Order: sequence, then C-alpha cells, then structure tokens
Amino acid sequence: MTNIINELLERRIIAVLGKGGVGRTSVSGALAMLAAGRGLRTLAIETDPQTPLAAGFGKRPGFAPRRLAANLWGMFLGGQESLEDYLGKVVPRPILRIVFGSSIYQHFVSAAPAVRELMMMGKIYDAIERRPSNEPRWDVIVLDTPASGQALSMLRMPFVARERFGESLVGREADQVARFFRDRALCAMVAVTTAEPLAVAETLELSRALDQLDLEVAAVVFNRRSPAMFEAVDVARMVRRATRESALRHLDYFADVARSELKRKNREARALEVLRRQIGAPHIVLHERRGLAESALLADLTRQLADSAASPLSFEFGTQPSS
Ligand SMILES: Nc1ncnc2c1ncn2[C@@H]1O[C@H](COP(=O)(O)OP(=O)(O)OP(=O)(O)O)[C@@H](O)[C@H]1O
Ligand SMILES: [Mg+2]
Repeated sequence: MTNIINELLERRIIAVLGKGGVGRTSVSGALAMLAAGRGLRTLAIETDPQTPLAAGFGKRPGFAPRRLAANLWGMFLGGQESLEDYLGKVVPRPILRIVFGSSIYQHFVSAAPAVRELMMMGKIYDAIERRPSNEPRWDVIVLDTPASGQALSMLRMPFVARERFGESLVGREADQVARFFRDRALCAMVAVTTAEPLAVAETLELSRALDQLDLEVAAVVFNRRSPAMFEAVDVARMVRRATRESALRHLDYFADVARSELKRKNREARALEVLRRQIGAPHIVLHERRGLAESALLADLTRQLADSAASPLSFEFGTQPSS
C-alpha cells in the first residue's frame, strides 16, 4: 500500500527533526513502535542524555543496543565511549592507541563539538553498514535528533568534513557517510511541528537548510492538532438560539468558548496550509491527546500512525520482554 507512513518504514533510517518541545521524542517512539509492531527489527537511537525513549520502557540504554520490547532496541548516541568504539572501526588500531593516549585528542574532542558530531553521524552509518556478518541487520533505525539547530549542525558535519579533509582517511569516511544520508531510498528526514507560529517558522527554516544540503524532507508530522469540536455553523446556531430564547442566556458563555475553539482551529488550518504550500512533502497529522502521557500517549500516537497507514497492528502495547 503506498502511503507515506508505509514508505517511511521502507527506509533504513528515519531521522526525526524539529523545534524543541514539538514532540520529536514522542513521534520517534511511535514510529519505532509501529515499525516493531510490524515485525521490523527496529533500533531507536536517542541523543538526549536523559534517554526519555528508553525510560518509557523502564530501561536505561547503553552505548550498545539494548532490548526495549519485542523487535525494538534502544541505544544512546553521544557518549565518548560509543564514539571511540566507532573510531576503532575506521582508524587502524596502532594509530588509534596513539591518538587516544594523546592529550591533544582529549582536548580536541571536548573542545570541538564538530568532532563529536562527525563521529555521531559516522556511528549511525556504522550501525547500518558495518554490522558484523554474524549479527542480524536493523530493518529500520529511528533517530530522535536534538532540537533543530543542533541537529542541523550534526547533519551538516559529514558534508563539511569531506570538503575539508579531501582524500584523507577522515575525508573518505565523511564522503561515505554523506552519500549514505543523501540517498533517499535509504534515509528519510521527518520534520515534526505543531501549529504554534514559532514551530512553523522553524520548520520552514529547517526545510530550507536541509534543501541546501541536498537532503529532502520526506514527510512533515503536524503534531498536537486539536480535536474538531465545533463548526462555524454550530456556533452561529447557538448564538441565534441564545438571543431568541431568554431562558437560554447561559448559551452565550458556551458560544464564547466555541468561538475561541473555532479560532484555534482556523489558526491550525492556516498553519497546515502554509506548511503544505512551502514544503512539498506529504503531511501526517497527529491529534492532541490531552491528559495522556508517557506509555499511554506513546500507544495512542502509535495507533494514530497505524490508522493513518490504514493497516492493522499486530503488536501488544505494554508487553515488556526481559532483555
Ligand atoms: N499529540 C500529543 N498529545 C498530547 N501531548 C503530547 C503530544 N505530543 C507530545 N506531547 C507532550 O508534549 C511534551 C513534549 O513532547 P516530546 O518530549 O516528545 O517533545 P520533544 O520535541 O522531544 O521535546 P525536547 O525538545 O524536550 O526533546 C511531552 O510532555 C509530551 O507528552
Ligand atoms: Mg525529546
């Protein structure tokens, strides 16, 4: 079935991007749960040191993938140890021993976020492309990126490094990583937003910045859409009745509430329209679930995605197999 959600799940990496607080982690979790529910071997990579995704399963992820649920593993990206493990695969051992032992390296890594970002990108590439042959491959990796600015500087790094380092070891590695992320059959960039004006503005900016890197927004997730409770005609009818029948004066109050709901709905529709016009990618709408949090919210968003993909889920929520 060709549907944007099904198409996303055919890629090896889904990078979830967006402004702080729009729901990147929730959407990443839901996409990962949906993938796992379909029997895909799924790895959720988090970059937030609080590791909220794994915490939702009562686990602390390590530098190596740790099982969170059926078909679902979690990993934290960013710790120095995991990055050095990656370097070990790229740089010959004897050289590496000298590098790690040098105070210049220690200084370099802590002083230059660029080096860390480059290694983070390499580590993701590594998880797909340099998987030991005796270990099963990941069907899909969902990457919960840091908020927009930081995510962009991380995504930009292989492109910068291959220019800077040319034909050297680092340059060649950066080139492979950059090509990998640009390959639209393998990697999808998903921009999460809400109707909030700042979030919409940042999403447009993000899409332009990705465009400059020749990275494409594969889909926009419009999160926290409020439920449609009233239509304009309902409000008009209510006001007419309230003025006609003096016994129903209290309807004025409800009419006010309805009017402000209507205004919000219109604001959301306009935001969606702007995004649709300016970013050509398909949109996935997820509804606001007031009062739901953590695993209940995750289950609900997963179900919303599954409904949008119009395919039944074969996954039981809340099952936590031992790791
Ligand atoms: N559709 C939704 N309905 C209700 N609450 C939601 C929805 N999506 C996200 N939330 C809530 O919004 C808050 C922010 O979500 P989340 O942590 O996923 O965002 P984030 O973009 O990862 O934030 P951060 O920038 O802090 O990493 C959380 O409390 C989450 O429960
Ligand atoms: Mg988050």
